[in-house]
Parts: sequence; structure tokens; C-alpha cells
Amino acid sequence: MNRTESFEGEVLRVVRGTRSGVPIAVAIHSTERGPAIGGCRIKPYPSWRDGVDDALRLSAAMTMKCALAGLPYGGGKTVAVLPAEGARRRDLIADIAEAISALGGRYRTGPDIGSTSEDMAEIHRLAHGWAFCRPEAQGGSGTSSAATARGVLAALRAGVAPGSVAGSRVGVIGFGSVGRLVCESLLAQGADVVVTDVDGELRPVAEQLGASWTTADLVRERLDVLVPAATGGLLTAESAAACGASLIVGPANNQLVADEVATVLRDRGITWIPDVIASAGGIIHAVGREELGWDEAAANAKVDAIADTTSAVLSRARERGSTTVRAARELAARLTGTG
Ligand SMILES: NC(=O)c1ccc[n+]([C@@H]2O[C@H](COP(=O)([O-])OP(=O)(O)OC[C@H]3O[C@@H](n4cnc5c(N)ncnc54)[C@H](O)[C@@H]3O)[C@@H](O)[C@H]2O)c1
Repeated sequence: MNRTESFEGEVLRVVRGTRSGVPIAVAIHSTERGPAIGGCRIKPYPSWRDGVDDALRLSAAMTMKCALAGLPYGGGKTVAVLPAEGARRRDLIADIAEAISALGGRYRTGPDIGSTSEDMAEIHRLAHGWAFCRPEAQGGSGTSSAATARGVLAALRAGVAPGSVAGSRVGVIGFGSVGRLVCESLLAQGADVVVTDVDGELRPVAEQLGASWTTADLVRERLDVLVPAATGGLLTAESAAACGASLIVGPANNQLVADEVATVLRDRGITWIPDVIASAGGIIHAVGREELGWDEAAANAKVDAIADTTSAVLSRARERGSTTVRAARELAARLTGTG
């Protein structure tokens, strides 16, 4: 992973949790449009510095995500760098809540890799309510997976020719909570769906739904649509050069290892829908329900509007011959008043 060259954010706070001993980084990239929001990632990293880099990159992506989604929020992120021996959950969550509390409400968190709705309930309790997606039974909007999947499907609709989902061949990498919901919907719309996941135990579930399972590298397969729904960093210059899909759209954050990869994709005629647009459904729904006073129908309508943002970015990229990354950055800069 490349080290972050310059600090473009507002706050970077790194603490060692007093209870857990775990390094915790909270990055606030921007509060220009409102309080910073971004998930809480709890996982091992090669070193704590890699965790800090991830927090910085992901917080910047959240600023763009919020701007493009039209939300009155900026970007932030929490990363807890889990040691090989793990940590007592209760202690770790209390330490994370303390780190968030210390920022006085400039940043609110939500679930991400390694954290759950139940963790958010605890952080919400300990940190003045500055956590989204508590279980519905505890007053939150629950898991964000369904809204995230809905947003991916909206972006996908905008990226394909009208009515062309039926009969198209779609590859889904990652059969987790979002990937599975995307699969279900695409199968229901008549797509031919092939799935891969590092967890082979998911194979019978996928096959029961009607998807086929593969252990091949789906990036290299001939597909109408590739859905990255596992982890980030899938698209490198090499994998982009070998990619066999016409359209790439999925929930995984930070799919490109660098912006330049978007040029390789564009030059090969592959449409890549920026993940900051396609993956925004969950956060749109969560803040809409929990803070902005939207009912379920209004929140879903805002998630569906991801299709309009997608179309705007694809048109801008087409008209200017630029990459979709560049088009999305320009649009976000206009919306944040920085461009
Ligand atoms: N859940 C949300 O609301 C949400 C919101 C925004 C972004 N995202 C992002 O979308 C992605 C999927 O989210 P999720 O909630 O479904 O996660 P998840 O953990 O439920 O599922 C991820 C799946 O990917 C699989 N996987 C991991 N590495 C893989 C690899 N190299 N190849 C194939 N499969 C692999 C895992 O086994 C797992 O089944 C993540 O990158 C997440 O950060 C999720």
C-alpha cells in the first residue's frame, strides 16, 4: 500500500486504547458540508501505520460519497488495528467510543468490516449517540446491507442498456450480505449469475438461489457486468488489462488501487461506476432514517436516485472523454464548493 503523501484532512487522531491496547485511528477528512461520517473498520493490518493510511484514504472517499449523494455530511473513518491475538470486544468497543467521544460530535460512525449493528448500539450508548445503524429494536435503522444492495442495483440499471439485465451474464465477487442480495435481485430479473467467494461453504447457498459457482478469477471472465462485492483493491493495472467485463459496478470500497487504473479501463472500453457512487445506498438510508427525518419511502427514493448520479457521471465522462473517476471527482468538487 502506498503511504499517504500529503495530509488533506482536518483531524487525524491515533490513540492506543487504554483498555484494549489496540491502536485506533479516527480520521476526519472534511466537515465542510456537515459532521463527518464513516464506518468503523476493525481488522488486522501488517502494521498500525497501514491502518492509519486506510483511515485517511477511506475518510477522503467518504467526503466524496456524501457530496455525490447530496448528503449534508463530510467524510470520516475509524480504523482499529486488531492484533494477531485479538482483543476483548467490550474493551475495544469502549475504547473506540472514547476516541469518537473526544471529537465532540464532529464525527459519527457506522458499521464496516469487522463491526456490527450491536457494536454501534454500544458506541451510541457510550458516545452521545454518535453512531448509526443500531439494531431496529434499539431504535436504529438496522443493518445497511439491503439499502447498499438497492443502491448497487440502481447504479447498475443506469450503466446498462434499458431492459438488458435479463439474459445478461453477471459475475459477483463476494457472496456476503450485499453480494447475496444483489445476486437474488439479478436472478429474479432473469440474469445469468456466476458467483465466487473465498468461503467455499457459501457455494450450496448460492447454487440454491440459482447462481452458478466458480473458483476462477471472475475479473478475467467474459461478462456483461462484474460486481465487486468483497474487499477493495481488486482493480490493478494488470487486472484491468485482463478484465473481460463490459461494466463494473459493486459495493466494495476503494476498488481501484490508483486512479490511473480507471484510464486502463476507459481505454479498453470498460465502464467503471465509481464505488463512492455505487456503494452509497447504506449510508444514505441510515442517515436519512436516523437523522434527517425521512420515512422509509423517502429514504428508498434517495437511494434509487443513485441511478441519476450514475447517469450524470457517465454522461460527463463520455462528453469529455475523461475517466469516470475524474468525472465523479469534478462533480463532487462542484458540490463541496472546492471545484
Ligand atoms: N454492507 C454495507 O452496507 C456496505 C456499505 C458500503 C460498502 N460496503 C462494502 O461492500 C463490500 C461487501 O460488503 P458486505 O457487507 O457484503 O461484506 P461481507 O463481509 O458480508 O461479505 C464479503 C464477502 O466477500 C468474501 N471475500 C472476501 N475476500 C474475498 C476475495 N478475495 N474473493 C472473493 N470473496 C471474498 C467474504 O468471504 C464474504 O463472504 C465490502 O467491501 C464493504 O466494505 C458494504
